Parts: sequence; structure tokens; C-alpha cells
Amino acid sequence: MIGRSLVSKASLLPAARSSIAKRSIATSRVALSDKLFVHRDTTDNNANVKFEFTAENMERANEIMAKYPPQYKKGAIMPLLDLGQRQLGWTSLPVMNAIAKMVEVPPMRVYEVATFYTMYNREPVGKYFLQLCTTTPCQLCGSTEILKTIESNLGIKVGETTKDGKFTLVEVECAGACVNAPVLAVNDDYYEDLTPETTNKVLESLKTGAPLPAGPQTGRLTCEPKGGLTTLTTEPTGPGFGIRSDL
Ligand code: FES
Repeated sequence: MIGRSLVSKASLLPAARSSIAKRSIATSRVALSDKLFVHRDTTDNNANVKFEFTAENMERANEIMAKYPPQYKKGAIMPLLDLGQRQLGWTSLPVMNAIAKMVEVPPMRVYEVATFYTMYNREPVGKYFLQLCTTTPCQLCGSTEILKTIESNLGIKVGETTKDGKFTLVEVECAGACVNAPVLAVNDDYYEDLTPETTNKVLESLKTGAPLPAGPQTGRLTCEPKGGLTTLTTEPTGPGFGIRSDL
């Protein structure tokens, strides 16, 4: 009854109705993940594919597990997943299942971890896994330009891998190196203080198999101030400085 009475009242007010109809709604861009967060069996990613650590990695795995009391073996899930990903190149279902067996938990406990943390790639990635930070400090320092530069240099978009399997590009949240923004992680290395020119140089060096040294690409040392020292610019005072001479 209430709905009906509202409708009938509105129909008596054509001017009000038309003003409501004209109201527009503004929305921001929908940020969709570049990955599907559910498993789909493929020929190389299904429960029948075997995964085993190499003898060397098995030794490391045992060292990792030895750090945890026997009843808390599951504490080793994250480092073991990392080790599995380093061996295979990505975190497949067989990797997760093998780890679940090792730490004696239901496989779901491992899937939960692997799907929560974006550091685990559940699809194959290129030889060079490029993670460009586009969070606010990096964006203010030009990460949008860096993204365009990478996309046009490699001919791929975010979430894609080059046809030769060498590069995969993803956008990530703060890489924790804002003072050296904009930042591009290439596998385990950070290339920092990037400009479109230095980004192209880094990419070309990766293509030739002789990567430029990681770190700031402007020549500054780590995260020292761009404009030189601002503190500790004088000799430090010695013991007793500022104490009355008669004491
Ligand atoms: S915002 Fe890019 S490293 Fe922090």
C-alpha cells in the first residue's frame, strides 16, 4: 500500500519526476583484478600433474620446516610456497598440494594462503616479472607515464605476457620504496627513480640479457636526499658539549 501511494503521488508531480530522472550518478573507474581468483584445470595445472622439490630445494624445505615445532608445521606454508614458486616459476595446484602434504594440512589451508597473497602467481609468468607500483606517491612522481612507456615498449597491456614469454606486466600497490618513486620491481630487484627514458633503458638491457644494475636510475645512492644532505652537515660535538665548565 505504501509503495502504491508513493507512485500515485509521484505521478501527480510531473516536474519533480523529470528533475529526478535527469540526476546523473558519478562513479570512479572500476578497478578489476588482472587475475581470475578461482582455479580452472588446465593441462599443466591439475591435480594429476606431479610436483616434487629438487634434491637441493628439498634440503632447503627441510631446513625451513625445522624452524617450526612439529605441531606448527603449517607455519612453513608461506616460505615453502615461495620455494615452490621459485622452482617451477609459478604456484600451480600440484605445488600447493605437495606443500599441504608436507606440512600435514588439508590442501584448502594452502589454497587459502596462496589466493590471499598476490606474491604467489597462480599462472605462469614471463622470465622477467614486471610489477609496476601505481599507488599515489609513485603516481604523483610519474608512474602513469612509466606504465605507458612499458606498454608501448613491450607491446603488452597490464596482466599480459609478451609472445616470447620474456616479460609479464602487472600493476601493484605500494612497493614500500616510495622515497624512490616511481618504482618497478623486476623479479626480486627494484628499479627506482624511473623516467620514461631510463625505463626504456632498463627494458632494453633486460632484452639483451645484460640487466642494468638495480636501484635508483638517477645516480643517487639508495634513498639519500635528492638535493644533498640536510642534516648532520657539521662535525658532531664531542662528550661534555654544553656542560658548565664549573661542574
Ligand atoms: S607508492 Fe610506490 S613504492 Fe610506495
